[in-house]
Amino acid sequence: MRGKRILLGITGGIAAYKIAFLIRLLKKNGADVKCIMTPASTEFISPLVVSTLSNNPVGIEFWNKKDGTWNNHVEYGLWADLFIIAPLTANTLSKMVQGSCDSLLLATYLSMKTKTIVAPAMDLDMYIHPSTKRNLAQIEKDGVEIIPAEIGELASGLTGEGRMAEPETIFSAIEAIVGASNNDFLGKKVVITAGPTYEALDPVRFIGNHSSGKMGFKIAQDFLNRGAKVILVTGPTNLSLEDDNLSLIKIKSAEDMLSEVQNCWKNCDFGIFAAAVADYRPKNQAIEKIKKKTDELTIELVKNPDILNWAGSVKTENQCLVGFALETQNLLENGAKKLEAKNLNFIVMNSLKDNGAGFGVDTNKITILDNRNNLQSFELKSKEAVAKDIIDYLKTYIG
Ligand code: PMT
Repeated sequence: MRGKRILLGITGGIAAYKIAFLIRLLKKNGADVKCIMTPASTEFISPLVVSTLSNNPVGIEFWNKKDGTWNNHVEYGLWADLFIIAPLTANTLSKMVQGSCDSLLLATYLSMKTKTIVAPAMDLDMYIHPSTKRNLAQIEKDGVEIIPAEIGELASGLTGEGRMAEPETIFSAIEAIVGASNNDFLGKKVVITAGPTYEALDPVRFIGNHSSGKMGFKIAQDFLNRGAKVILVTGPTNLSLEDDNLSLIKIKSAEDMLSEVQNCWKNCDFGIFAAAVADYRPKNQAIEKIKKKTDELTIELVKNPDILNWAGSVKTENQCLVGFALETQNLLENGAKKLEAKNLNFIVMNSLKDNGAGFGVDTNKITILDNRNNLQSFELKSKEAVAKDIIDYLKTYIG
């Protein structure tokens, strides 16, 4: 974080009081912090507090009436290594979607040269309202990264989703982006598997699962931030990633995934297998669409190759192999079995029984077990922060 320039946008919600702690965390870790506040947010936290903690003047309006100077949104955009808006209210969110710029904060958002991340905070009904969901999905499409709101007690007295992520969680997300670009994996090559596999029944149907690919893509992004060359072998997802150091290989079935991994594994230093690979596939694939003729239809399945198992069986001493285990029961016991059976260096376990963990969501809660018998559990975090934890663990593991 040392020397990183963090621009912090504060909008008008009760969670604004927590921003004092975030500024302290950023400053303590060596970041240079500048803040922009919407006029409404000054009702929730005093600009004097924000300015004193950040050790910089605070921008609120375009025009400083007292001294006749103006706050240049373009300069803010050029200055920052990262723009974080926290808390993000429903009002500012909807204006970001529209491209409005009726405040210094919004004009700065439109002028940003680097990434923007946001930490929404709203009351329960506002957060789960379809228009909020729609707006969050839209800014995500526009390239903004979202630190999901958490479940808990809200200022209204209600309990539910909408509470702004804690300052420590926001700090980790910021650190994962700007703090990770230190090239500590420069010259290293990694293969990552992500997403589901689709096992075709006929030309229109398949057996698949709910993996979105988010976990694997976040791991790929973090390795890229840290200078590695990445081969990302992914099943069907809606995600995209571009980088000069990335080779993105799109596959459908487990057999396709195996053949791509077999092509590259021997030249890689690390393998991180986050894909949810179908264990079985239909024995026969109909050439034409299967017709609805009978009341019952039996599909015969055959076992798919275990890609991770193959990589473990040919792994050399210089390679490090990391698997995932997605469980619904006996997480540690089942994870330990996979660690040993697949000859892994460590295994990342996640459970569908934990709220906010596993398929589809933007967060995950993991426990890592390594083959030296070390066990470490992590809090529920954004998948971005989880990816960083996994790669930091790998860094410590290889020494
Ligand atoms: O994609 P997201 O929506 O972000 O969700 C993330 C995730 C839940 C998919 C991810 O965190 C995860 O847990 N991935 C592994 C899911 C899984 O299939 O686990 P498993 O316990 O069935 O498999 C164990 C390991 O063997 C995994 O590393 C898997 O990639 C690998 N495997 C499994 C079967 C097979 N035929 N080949 C494999 O390589």
